[in-house]
Amino acid sequence: MAKTTKNNTIKLNFDTKYAPAPESKASAKIDAKYDLFINGKFEKPSSKKYFDTINPATEEKLSEVADANAADVDKAVKAARTAYDKTWGKMPAKERAKYIYRIARMIQERAREFSVIETLDGGKPIRESRDVDVPLVANHFFYYAGWADKLEYAFPNKKIAPLGVAGQIIPWNFPLLMAAWKIAPALATGNTVVLKPAETTPLTALKLAEIIQESDLPPGVVNIITGAGATGAAIVNHPDINKIAFTGSTNVGKIIQKAVAGTDKKVTLELGGKAANIIFDDAPLDQAVEGIINGIFFNQGHVCCAGSRLFVQESVYDTVLRKLKDRLESLIVGDPLDKNTDIGAINSKEQMDNIVKYLKIGEKEGLDMYQSSCPIPKKGFFIRPTLFTNVAQSSRLAQEEIFGPVLTIQTFRTDDEVIEKANNTPFGLSAGVWTDKGSKIFNLTTKLRAGVIWANTYNKFDPTSPFGGYKESGYGREGGLHGLGAYLNL
Ligand code: NAI
Ligand code: MG
Repeated sequence: MAKTTKNNTIKLNFDTKYAPAPESKASAKIDAKYDLFINGKFEKPSSKKYFDTINPATEEKLSEVADANAADVDKAVKAARTAYDKTWGKMPAKERAKYIYRIARMIQERAREFSVIETLDGGKPIRESRDVDVPLVANHFFYYAGWADKLEYAFPNKKIAPLGVAGQIIPWNFPLLMAAWKIAPALATGNTVVLKPAETTPLTALKLAEIIQESDLPPGVVNIITGAGATGAAIVNHPDINKIAFTGSTNVGKIIQKAVAGTDKKVTLELGGKAANIIFDDAPLDQAVEGIINGIFFNQGHVCCAGSRLFVQESVYDTVLRKLKDRLESLIVGDPLDKNTDIGAINSKEQMDNIVKYLKIGEKEGLDMYQSSCPIPKKGFFIRPTLFTNVAQSSRLAQEEIFGPVLTIQTFRTDDEVIEKANNTPFGLSAGVWTDKGSKIFNLTTKLRAGVIWANTYNKFDPTSPFGGYKESGYGREGGLHGLGAYLNL
């Protein structure tokens, strides 16, 4: 239904209910219990301990997974070392590529199953896991399979050698995609791997282990072990690991940096972010508003490069704010398995509490809060999309990573002012610029201190382009040629 408002614009009435359109769970085969994937087999943990992984949208238990201790980590690293020395390190690159292609194709064949399990275990909308995560996962394996036997062209005039055994620790926001970002370039360059998924989202990595087993990849080339921080620390501190690749919080990143200082382990760290998304008055505003919405509410704001700080040029502030509020009202929050859902479940109770803590800080600081009036499910972890206005540059909400569906909005008058404000955080992972003028885009992209800058779009990923940050957002790059280099001695 539409009605005409005072200023003669058409206002849509978003009360219109969509009929439920849930994706079927039939394709998702989840075992009651998962062991550790070590040396090509599923093995019981020597700790004898297991922990639950739940569906954050319903709080129901999905499965239990093994809690690996230091002895299990040691077993996995030994398997990876043997595979590196005996098979994988010696295999002609063209043969290695065949396995990586095979894994890519098997992921495509089972795309629906992976999408449904990703959504069940982590809470992200099925539309995203189906249309973004899983296709990108397959693309990553395809892309790096293509490089495996062409490394001398990737790095001309360089003597290249793999590093050896890579320990890889990943977070819960893009569980399978982060596994692909880590595993595919490591294998293409001839390394072997011990990977640990996050404790709230272990299932798609364990499903990937099943595919790896079926692909006949030589045992020990990829080992996937589950556990929480202590398991991750045991990987980081294992003396026979040559490289640590980590994506997660800045705090843990700092712990890892300290732990490897003075060793010859190589490290890449992908940490937090506090990206500025900047709208100039000459931007196509509807398109920009859609990009802002996508930039912060995509995946419940569980995105290290989320556009969590919006800067709007003063002359279009009122229009942009009105459009944002209208669009916010139309977002559907709820069952992640429903194909209409825009915003799914917050990944865990801890993360939800963390976001709520920031909402309270915002209120205490006297910021103006605006939340969508949409209904949210009674069970599970959900937060309404939230805007804060009247935000000072020094506000904690404008400085700290919230990692949730929360956007702060500030205004600016000149290019210099917005560059100064945008750069004024400890982070520097990404940024977005919305303007009709190419010259403005060039001016900003050269002056913004961020690893990735999108112009008139946001949150676009591609295996061929490198990704990584400045300052406390980490160091090293993943993706593209840079991502290969991170697994080689050049
Ligand atoms: P986290 O950094 O604790 O978890 C990431 C991974 O590191 C998990 O696999 C975890 O088991 C592992 N880990 C934890 N402690 C470790 C240690 N001492 N040594 C080695 N591995 C360890 O992140 P958490 O607590 O789940 O989230 C906290 C905040 O971190 C979020 O609110 C968000 O701001 C940020 N975050 C950023 C991510 C990114 O993509 N850059 C991803 C996840 C969280
Ligand atoms: Mg879970």
